[in-house]
Amino acid sequence: MKTLHITVLAACALAAPLAMAQTAAKLKVGLMLPYTGTYAALGTAIENGFRLHLAEQGGKLGGREIEFIKVDDESDPSKATDNVNKLIKRDNVDVLVGSVHSGVAMAMAKVAKDTGTILMVPNAGADIVTGAMCAPNIFRSSFTNWQPGYAMGEVVAKKGHKKVVTITWKYAAGDESVNAFKESFEKGGGKVVKALNLPFPNVEFQALLTEIAATKPDAVYTFFAGGGAVKFVKDYAAAGLKKSIPLYGAGFLTDGTLEAQGADAADLLTTLHYADSLSTARDDAFRLAYAKTYRLQPDVYAVQGYDAAQMLGIGLAAVKGDLSKRAGFTSAIEKAKINSPRGAFTLSKSHNPVQDIYLRQVVGKENKVIGVASKALADPARGCKM
Ligand code: PHB
Repeated sequence: MKTLHITVLAACALAAPLAMAQTAAKLKVGLMLPYTGTYAALGTAIENGFRLHLAEQGGKLGGREIEFIKVDDESDPSKATDNVNKLIKRDNVDVLVGSVHSGVAMAMAKVAKDTGTILMVPNAGADIVTGAMCAPNIFRSSFTNWQPGYAMGEVVAKKGHKKVVTITWKYAAGDESVNAFKESFEKGGGKVVKALNLPFPNVEFQALLTEIAATKPDAVYTFFAGGGAVKFVKDYAAAGLKKSIPLYGAGFLTDGTLEAQGADAADLLTTLHYADSLSTARDDAFRLAYAKTYRLQPDVYAVQGYDAAQMLGIGLAAVKGDLSKRAGFTSAIEKAKINSPRGAFTLSKSHNPVQDIYLRQVVGKENKVIGVASKALADPARGCKM
């Protein structure tokens, strides 16, 4: 009896410093983002946003300093499984943050699900990540591809447009965005008469623009982002279509791109969970801090990176930095109201933001809010069992 007592005491005495050593060590965060290619600026904005929140917290989340291990995923799904496995097995990261491209994020989600590693998705909208692949350790601070597309389908139907052509990149993000648009647009009485696409990240739009001109739809709906969005908006105007066929898009079309698009983006209407003129105390403070730190205006990607750090911080604070207390970590994030610059949001059961989707219009260098297209919009999370 006595021996047992001593053994238990000794074990406790050993375990306490071990646990302390673990929570005192730096938390390793694997940032798997695009730093080259058409989405390079998006990856940088996400990292900037993440680091801004961390700096505001004195460099610690849940009492832990953070060590970043960065990988340029090149928005290349064929390299994603190797990249994420290296972060987990070679670098022993505690948390994965990534990525921008839906195909890359699906590969990350698969590995995260298999290994139980915490994954924070700070952009990629692949519906399946918080749909059929949903898991207790996978969280998203951004959106599903369905959300802005569905909201825009309602807007365009209400405007009375009947015949629409869609144009996008042929991969999960483009497909899901235009499918969601079609879902609500056709419910509202419209018809998608042609669905055009080209391979990601191709920007040879000319033949497709000629086809749009020949089809003469009432309007065009599009998903493009980053460098490709800049080129598409410029080519659409140069082809003379801007005057005759109104162009609508998921807000990525004009987010972080307006400097480069200039007058060719003027007046465009898009739907997104962020805008440049929210004029709330929360967003004003964020925008000022971001601009001071990076000498750049923030965009939706910066907000999503910032909120990924906030969500991680909320979970870590609840368990005092001890990630082995997984249930406490998860339930704190599930219950949280995240004080985002976009407006406060909560997560759905499938861990995707339930959020207002704004209708925005390009005025000068800003995506100005002109209304809320869809209030507290939750993704249907088809196939998620959690
Ligand atoms: C995606 O691949 O899910 C994606 C990429 C860029 C965006 C939005 C979604 O701006």
